[in-house]
Amino acid sequence: MIDQPWRRSPEQFAAHVEQSLEWVVAHMRAAGSRSPWSPLQPGELAARLPNGPPDGPVPLEDVLADLQEVIEPGLVRWDAPGWFAWFPSNAHPDAILGDLLASVTAQQGMLWASSPACTELEGRMLEWLRLAMGLPERFAEGGPGGGVIQDTASSGVLACMVAARDRATDGAATQRGAAACGELAVYASEQSHSSVLKAAGICGIGRDHVRLVPTRDDFSMDPRAAAEMMSKDAAAGRRPVFCCATVGTTGCGAVDPVSDLGRICGDHQCWLHVDAAWAGTAALAPELRGPVVAGAEDADSWSFNPHKWMGAAFDCCCLWVADRRPLIDAMSIEPEYLRNSATDSGGVIDYRDWHIQLGRRFRAIKLWLLLRCTGVSAIAEMVRFHVSLAARLEAAVEAHSHLALTAPRSLSLCCVHHMDGDQATQRVIDRVNADGRFAVTHCRLQDRLSMRVAIGTLAVDQDTVDALIEVLEEGDPGPEAASIA
Ligand SMILES: Cc1ncc(COP(=O)(O)O)c(C=O)c1O
Repeated sequence: MIDQPWRRSPEQFAAHVEQSLEWVVAHMRAAGSRSPWSPLQPGELAARLPNGPPDGPVPLEDVLADLQEVIEPGLVRWDAPGWFAWFPSNAHPDAILGDLLASVTAQQGMLWASSPACTELEGRMLEWLRLAMGLPERFAEGGPGGGVIQDTASSGVLACMVAARDRATDGAATQRGAAACGELAVYASEQSHSSVLKAAGICGIGRDHVRLVPTRDDFSMDPRAAAEMMSKDAAAGRRPVFCCATVGTTGCGAVDPVSDLGRICGDHQCWLHVDAAWAGTAALAPELRGPVVAGAEDADSWSFNPHKWMGAAFDCCCLWVADRRPLIDAMSIEPEYLRNSATDSGGVIDYRDWHIQLGRRFRAIKLWLLLRCTGVSAIAEMVRFHVSLAARLEAAVEAHSHLALTAPRSLSLCCVHHMDGDQATQRVIDRVNADGRFAVTHCRLQDRLSMRVAIGTLAVDQDTVDALIEVLEEGDPGPEAASIA
């Protein structure tokens, strides 16, 4: 028995894990047993929590009882079979084990010296994924570039924009601040993720200097418009510094023409970043890979989120750069307390120089568990299954006289609208969400409201998709039905 009340023996910890596992298993089993959305109103959960912390210890069984009573109703079941909202955020059990090991080993991987395991496993996991996804040699481990895990795609785009800004201004933006960014411009399509605008605001280029390039009929970036905008800026003395191409846009999964953008960016020495946050996982299936990785050989950086479709449990974003120097030039600061002989040797990677924050979690271990215990071919199989379910939904929508696809199906994402207009589409969305089995969200495409059905949760099956199709086939419930509901 240890008499220091803050400590737990390994045996006590094991007993607590066993106790908690009962809740975990019951929670996992209950994934489809209630509406995926939380029934709570704003403030309801906080009102059930004490205003301050307890002074002494509370038995774990009491905490677990509160977990079920107070916290569970506030959980949104992203793991429900009928979860079709936003994009999936899968936590595969093998990755959950990896997350547990990351906490148990308590690594802090800011430097090679602070955790050789975190650093070297990460480099190798990014290389495994690069090979499994067919990404080009220019991102390879051991070359001038390499891979790094960021917390999110938003952080990845910010890190790359900072590096591009630093490269274009020869370090002046990093040294002298926003004043040195006055002549820079960023490009992304009208359908690109809001993280591009956010990053431009944060890094001093400014949201006003982000050019939202018009899209073509399929909602992908129009490369001719991008070229014209860059040339116009360059002629006016404003330097095209960063272009974000999206492979799988958030709204409808459109794929920007990365190869064309590579050529155009090359003319302006503009950094080309590829954001494949959701769709990147599909590159694990060889027959789906082509459009996902097309043009990657011309990109300065390429990223995707294994925490979305692949199952790596939030958070985990893989980012590859063709040349790590600009990132390191922009990010590296060496206070005395971090100096060590491994860094001084120049022969190791210190990942703190590859992103915004200093400290970093041991995220590579969940990729290691997932890639070894589940394996690439099973993940590819899952992707194929989800794509086939989306094709089934697509066929049902096409056969229905009142529904239509607002954009071409992209992998496992369908965007659907009602022919009678936005109000009818909204009623269909509301009815699907009120059904209790499903969760869907919306997007706006060419000013038309559309219901997004993003198929990709680990638990989804054909019966659930068929049940959704049945609800959709009932059509518009009409304004009166909606008001009664
Ligand atoms: C295309 C795209 N990029 C970036 C993001 C942002 O992802 P994160 O939450 O990892 O920053 C999303 C989120 O859905 C996305 O769809």
